[in-house]
Amino acid sequence: METMIGVIGGSGLYEIAGLEGASWVKVKTPWGAPSDQILVGRLDGVPMAFLPRHGRGHRLSPTDVPYRANIDALKRLGCTDVISVSACGSLREDYAPGDFVIVDQFIDRTFAREKSFFGTGCVAHVSVAQPTCPRLGAACAQAATGVQVHQGGTYLAMEGPQFSTLAESRLYRAWGADVIGMTNMPEAKLAREAELCYASVAMVTDFDCWHEDHGAVDVAEVIATLTANSGHAKDMIARLPTLLGADRAPCPHGCDRALDHAIMTAPSA
Ligand code: ADE
Repeated sequence: METMIGVIGGSGLYEIAGLEGASWVKVKTPWGAPSDQILVGRLDGVPMAFLPRHGRGHRLSPTDVPYRANIDALKRLGCTDVISVSACGSLREDYAPGDFVIVDQFIDRTFAREKSFFGTGCVAHVSVAQPTCPRLGAACAQAATGVQVHQGGTYLAMEGPQFSTLAESRLYRAWGADVIGMTNMPEAKLAREAELCYASVAMVTDFDCWHEDHGAVDVAEVIATLTANSGHAKDMIARLPTLLGADRAPCPHGCDRALDHAIMTAPSA
């Protein structure tokens, strides 16, 4: 099978340069329109698809991002692997602004989003015990250079759009969460339902509000850190095609077979 790499870019990453034969395509899905058109092309011979999560111009709030349409559109284009790039706050001293975290666990505290492709008519329960693809995460860690990379971290997904209160920030630290953001859920769950390999690269932009030596989060700080680091994110993406290769073997972790034993509804006669 041919590898196709989908990238969902977060704040500060609205485009990727250097794609051969690049064009923006409109993809229709039964779940509505994705956040924007999708930039498709090839990098080192490997097909790529880039989708700005908030739309170009950052028009969609985390709650309003059409997560189902985004994942479905990437699947329809033929993506096998999806890399999520997003901004996050740090909940621990040793994950500092500018660092990249290869997220491997989530605590989902979002509550105002559609979280499944399944429901009435066809019921399915996929496992998200290991919600990200270790193979793809390792490739991202290898591809990220010139930046401190932490391999592993629990991402607390909050609804937003406001940042956390101090009590919430302290609670999430006590729960063992390492970083906090507003966008990786339900994206990761939907990618699993769509049988896509999914890795999340969370770029630390701030210490949320728990850290005594730092004030409350402010957007200017978030944007300044993202701007300073977007080059590292783009370089990481540019190295992935060579690392992943053009031919894709079945996922050793079974991400591409997640539905094999997940569907409860009897097939109709
Ligand atoms: N995105 C960037 N920093 C964040 C924070 N502290 N909380 C939630 N989302 C964020």
